[in-house]
Amino acid sequence: MDKIRLNKFLSGRVSRRAADACIAEGRVRVNGETVTQMGVMIDPSRDSVTLDGEKILPERGRHVYIMLNKPAGFVSTAKDQFGRGTVMDLIEAPRRVFPVGRLDYDTEGLLLLTSDGAFAEKILRPRYEIKKTYVVTTGGAPPEEALAALRRGVLIDGGAVTSPAEVSARRVKNGAEITIIIHEGRNRQVRKMCAAAGLSVRRLRRSAVGRLTLGGLAVGGWRNLTKDEIKYFL
Ligand code: URA
Repeated sequence: MDKIRLNKFLSGRVSRRAADACIAEGRVRVNGETVTQMGVMIDPSRDSVTLDGEKILPERGRHVYIMLNKPAGFVSTAKDQFGRGTVMDLIEAPRRVFPVGRLDYDTEGLLLLTSDGAFAEKILRPRYEIKKTYVVTTGGAPPEEALAALRRGVLIDGGAVTSPAEVSARRVKNGAEITIIIHEGRNRQVRKMCAAAGLSVRRLRRSAVGRLTLGGLAVGGWRNLTKDEIKYFL
């Protein structure tokens, strides 16, 4: 098993901040020795860690499921060759997680991250038809024909026609908000669909995945999914 920070290991049991406090207060022992230093690395498969004398077991097999409200200006990969911020910089997880699909650098909104491959598969595979809801902000009122084209399906990537989509629009100040619900997940699909329909995209935000919505989650904020939310997808 890879080495991880002691506070990260403990954060399966207490919050990361509380973990730091427990360490500073001398309540944590590694292989029998009290550790008060920050940044100590441990190997959860070999090292024995206790908190107030109670052994903390590695959370093997316990997956992590996170919802992030991704801001624009972050990539959805673990590393970026250009050194840009990644979604991993925005969250804290007690084990390695990966994003479930991608949102573009400039796209905002609901991004799930998990350590559970089967969960990711359920959301990403078109055959499960999990709907993803996107809200596109455009300048000006969209022509009805453009909305009809989005609904029917448009030609993207030089040959593929997108599946029928649920599309609605409403006027907002200086433009319109178009809600597009699709269950496919091709690369930059919504931007390409809008380009094919002759619509300019000022802002793109994913507001829901299946029946999961951002609720009041602030831009840049994250939370763990509830048991019911996890069950819904699995
Ligand atoms: N479609 C896009 O064009 N971009 C995204 O980030 C997601 C869907």
